Amino acid sequence: MITTAKNVIRIQPHMIHRGTLILVNSEHPLKQPIHSRNLAPVENIRHASTKEQNMRLERTCLQQLESLLMACRGKEQIGIVSGYRTRLEQKRIYDQSYEENGPIFTASYVARPGESEHQTGLAVDVGELKEGVDYLCPSLPDHGVYAAFRRMAAEYGFIQRYREGKEHLTHIACEPWHFRYVGVPHAIIMEQYGLCLEEYIEYMQQFTQNGAHLFKKHKNDLVEMYFIEMGKEEKEVAIDMKPGSRVEVSGNNVNGCIVTIFHDQGQANR
Ligand code: DAL
Ligand code: ZN
Repeated sequence: MITTAKNVIRIQPHMIHRGTLILVNSEHPLKQPIHSRNLAPVENIRHASTKEQNMRLERTCLQQLESLLMACRGKEQIGIVSGYRTRLEQKRIYDQSYEENGPIFTASYVARPGESEHQTGLAVDVGELKEGVDYLCPSLPDHGVYAAFRRMAAEYGFIQRYREGKEHLTHIACEPWHFRYVGVPHAIIMEQYGLCLEEYIEYMQQFTQNGAHLFKKHKNDLVEMYFIEMGKEEKEVAIDMKPGSRVEVSGNNVNGCIVTIFHDQGQANR
């Protein structure tokens, strides 16, 4: 007989600002810098540009990127151009672009310091490994391993963050090279419905703790997701879980947290 156990998780107000689903843009600046212990050096992926030394990414994001590059057989053709940036690094990039490219280009392609996803460690710019890669707008063609990378990205938790047609929401031009790690199955759902992160954060708010939850099958798991609005108080959430299941909680950096429960179906069928 499979027993379910009530797991009580405590969600604290500061958790709104951390996790793989945080929305970081001009309206929602980063509130909590990532701790350096959650960053890992990029050692097993080729660098497409020499501009960033000691490149780092958030640990899970890095692992998933390595797996994605293996899966699409792109390790010899795709490299990282830009990974984690401190606020100061983002400021230097912004200032330099402003001086060299002017205000219109810079507003389209470079986030202001404090408003860049690169400061989360969850964003990565990838490009074709070739001479003379453009640091701000690297090329990532639409064929071969590059196309396979795009096609498989969501399965590994990545979204192309700035797409054509969403500029009025993101306030950033289409960037086919900028991928953001949000995790699965979130990336898959966003891809399926054509939602950018701004839209997804809004969409998730209809699935509340006491209302209907969102369900999605993914591999061996039935994944249950819902939103918890947060004020200034801590909240306790009781979750029914079978052994082998796990929970992730991520803030949205706006007004609450998204709970993702991976119910292990393999376990139920054994
Ligand atoms: N290129 C993106 C918008 C950034 O600077 O974060
Ligand atoms: Zn980028």
